[in-house]
Amino acid sequence: MKKINKICCIGAGYVGGPTMSVIAYKCPGIEVTVVDINEKRIDAWNDKNLDNLPVYEPGLKEIVAETRGKNLFFSTQIDKAIDEADMIFISVNTPTKTYGKGKGQAADLKYIELCARNIAKVAKTDKIVVEKSTLPVRTAQAIKNILDNTGNHVNFEILSNPEFLAEGTAINDLLYADRILIGGDDTPSGTEAKDALAAIYGHWLPDNKILKTNIWSSELSKLVANAFLAQRISSINSISALCEKTDANVQEVSKAIGLDSRIGPKFLNASVGFGGSCFQKDILNLVYIAKTYGLNEVSDYWEQVILINDYQKRRFANNIVSSLYNTVSGKKIVFYGWAFKKDTNDTRESAAIYVADALLDEQAEIVVYDPKVSEERIYADLDYLNTRTEEENRKLVTVVKEPVEATKEAHAIAVLTEWDEFKKYDWETIYKNMLKPAFVFDGRRILDKEKLDTLGFNYYRIGEGA
Ligand code: UDX
Ligand code: ADP
Repeated sequence: MKKINKICCIGAGYVGGPTMSVIAYKCPGIEVTVVDINEKRIDAWNDKNLDNLPVYEPGLKEIVAETRGKNLFFSTQIDKAIDEADMIFISVNTPTKTYGKGKGQAADLKYIELCARNIAKVAKTDKIVVEKSTLPVRTAQAIKNILDNTGNHVNFEILSNPEFLAEGTAINDLLYADRILIGGDDTPSGTEAKDALAAIYGHWLPDNKILKTNIWSSELSKLVANAFLAQRISSINSISALCEKTDANVQEVSKAIGLDSRIGPKFLNASVGFGGSCFQKDILNLVYIAKTYGLNEVSDYWEQVILINDYQKRRFANNIVSSLYNTVSGKKIVFYGWAFKKDTNDTRESAAIYVADALLDEQAEIVVYDPKVSEERIYADLDYLNTRTEEENRKLVTVVKEPVEATKEAHAIAVLTEWDEFKKYDWETIYKNMLKPAFVFDGRRILDKEKLDTLGFNYYRIGEGA
């Protein structure tokens, strides 16, 4: 079996950073270099103060402290790292296309292609190239074509090794993975490459957790796993709307159905809608691929998961407007949370962005508090929507660092992220701070209803009638 001494990972983001840190930590004999074109990001990964790492993830800074400078390196010297590595992970972003064919659905593979071309140009020895980024099926073939046709006649073996880590729990998801999927060719060199990658994970995971498949199955499984997970959330969210109209309580329904071992309890928390960099993008890819093959019923089926998610965000915003007597114009609404889930500073596709956008359409004044998301990020998310000018966004939205203070003279609080600290706030003081009646809209169902009712709040939560 090919022995791997040096690994290079292209892309130092939410996937590349944590994954490589864990590999370096568990494989002290392998030198791991993570490279990125973004110099600021690399500087942050190298920052002496580990609280400044560009990715916030519980447990990450401890692992980086242990490995950085020993066998884990962060660098902008991409070519050098490619040249020296036996195995190259591609972990760059694959956002949804915002232009041309497949706009709004297909994955934009331009960053992947740039990487492939760069590897082809630089590599002078055989390499195993591992696609880590979430990719629509058959991307490996495209990478292979580029590498084989533009390279220096060295042998490239392409593997698909999709990431199943969830942000906020990435380190544990990597350390105690349910499974590792490795897709590759069944040729002798393909099998050897799969074994080499399996041996890396074998440093901390048993054989039975490492699944080897053909490359297409591996690529498709990633999209399907995310589509199934997101489908569960949209399913329970669709029921939350029904619960709000009846006397049913979505949490009780969720518990009752989750106890059926065939259904299971996970991913049945009704919420203001799923976000994150994967679910929407991967389902849109699935939809696009199905459509490409003329499977319109299949694509419509999966698209519905997204449509329910959009509906859920809209419904939450509409409920705020109608509860506040059909107008939020000039009213101060405090957002608790901006990240797409707790324990991450990532805001990609966060429901908060879309709820804010809908309320800003109604001329609300929004004050945002999130324990980990920067002011710069919040404005960038709003500016990216292009609904309003940058000036308007800064006029209508304020970002604060003091969550209780922020509630002074507020009409309502909307909980958009399930950060634990929100439960521990002094809600009595918050009540005193606010204008009356004081509204709380809990998009995550995390606050203590009895306590808030007793204090005098008008407390609404997803999936329960008022
Ligand atoms: C997801 C997949 O879980 C992971 O396997 C894949 O590799 C990447 O995509 P991630 O997006 O990081 O991970 O987070 P996840 O925990 O799946 O949450 C996604 C969204 O769904 C969040 O906005 C979360 O708040 C929401 N969610 C999750 C719910 O609304 N209800 C639930 O019951 C679970
Ligand atoms: P993910 O969640 O998939 O990790 P991110 O956007 O957090 O996505 O990270 C992807 C990283 O890949 C970014 O830091 C970006 O700068 C980097 N990147 C994109 N294209 C290239 C490239 N051609 N070479 C090196 N790094 C790249």
